[in-house]
Amino acid sequence: MRVAVVGAGTIGAGWAALFLARGMEVAVSDPDPAAEASLRGFVERAWPVMERLGLMPGADPGRLRFHADPRDAAEGAAFVQENAPERLDVKRQVYAQLEEVIAPGTIVASSTSGLVMSSLQEGTRHPERFAIGHPFNPPHIIPLVEVVGGRATSEETIRRLMAFYAALGKRPIRLRKEVPGHLANRLQAALWREAVHAVESGLASVEDVDTAIAEGPGLRWALMGPNMIFALAGGAGGMSHFLDHIGPAMEGWWADLGQPRLTPELRERLIAGSRDELAGRTIPALSADRDRMLLALLEMLRRERAQTDHEEGGQP
Ligand SMILES: NC(=O)c1ccc[n+]([C@@H]2O[C@H](COP(=O)([O-])OP(=O)(O)OC[C@H]3O[C@@H](n4cnc5c(N)ncnc54)[C@H](O)[C@@H]3O)[C@@H](O)[C@H]2O)c1
Repeated sequence: MRVAVVGAGTIGAGWAALFLARGMEVAVSDPDPAAEASLRGFVERAWPVMERLGLMPGADPGRLRFHADPRDAAEGAAFVQENAPERLDVKRQVYAQLEEVIAPGTIVASSTSGLVMSSLQEGTRHPERFAIGHPFNPPHIIPLVEVVGGRATSEETIRRLMAFYAALGKRPIRLRKEVPGHLANRLQAALWREAVHAVESGLASVEDVDTAIAEGPGLRWALMGPNMIFALAGGAGGMSHFLDHIGPAMEGWWADLGQPRLTPELRERLIAGSRDELAGRTIPALSADRDRMLLALLEMLRRERAQTDHEEGGQP
C-alpha cells in the first residue's frame, strides 16, 4: 500500500516512520529544502524503536520518497495524512492541491490539534473524504488517535479511517462532536489548569505538583483511565458506590477549582520552578529518558495485557 504524508515536521516525520514500519510505501512532501535530510535522519533514529514495537512484512526505511509538492506525494496514494503548519489558509491550499490528484477512494486525514474539520473542508470539492486523525506526539510511539469528522465528512470515511488506524496497531477513538482541542488535550488542559493554580496559590511547588501526578494517579491512568480507576475505587459496588460515596465531595472540589491566568509573574514562577526541577539536567537528556521509559512501559503493558487476555480467555 502506498500512502502520502504531507508536511515533514515533528508530526509528519513520526507518521512516516510508523507507516514505513507497517510495511507501507511512503511518499512525503514538504516545501522546506532542509526537510528531506531531517526526515531521513528522524526515520533512521526511530527505526530501532519501530523494531522493538514490531515491524510488519515489507517494513523497510528505504521505501521512503520525498517531494517538494504535495501533489507529487499524493498521486497514486491510497491514503493521505496531512501535517502542514497549523494555519487554516495553508491547510486549505494544500487540500486544493491534493484534490487535483487524489483518487476517488482516497481519504485525507488531518493531524490538526486546534482546527476543526468543518471549516478546513470548506471549499473542497469532495469534503466527504476529509476528516481529522489527531495523533499524540510522538505519533510513531503513542497509540491514541482521535478521529472526528466535519459537517460534510461521510460516515464511510470515518468508518474506514477508524479501521485503517486500528490495522496499524493504533488505538483510535471516535469523537462525536467537533470541539477545540478535541478530547485528550482538553483533559490535559483541565488537569494542568489546576496544576498551575496550585503553584499560583502557593499550595505546592512545580516539582511537587509533578511528583503528585507521576508518583501517584499518573501511574494508574496509564493502565486504565480515570473513569475505570474510580469505578475500582468504589470497591465491589463499582462506579455506583463511588458516586454515592465520593461524588458529593468531588462536586465541592469542582466548585473550588482555580481559573489561573498566565500573567507574566505566573509565567516566571512556572519557568523558575521547571528550572529547579531540571536540577542541571538538559531537556534533550530528559526527553531521551522519557522516550526510553515510554517504550518500556508500552512493552510491559502489551505483555501484561496479553497475559491477562490469555488467562481470562481460558476461563469458562
Ligand atoms: N507538535 C505536536 O505536538 C502536535 C501533536 C499533534 C498534532 N499536531 C498537528 O500536526 C500538524 C503539524 O505540526 P508539527 O508540530 O509537525 O509542525 P512543524 O512546524 O514541526 O511541521 C510543519 C511542516 O510543514 C511544512 N510545510 C509548510 N508549508 C507546507 C505546505 N504547503 N505543504 C506541506 N508542508 C508544508 C513545514 O516546512 C514543516 O516542515 C499541525 O496541524 C499540528 O496541530 C502537532
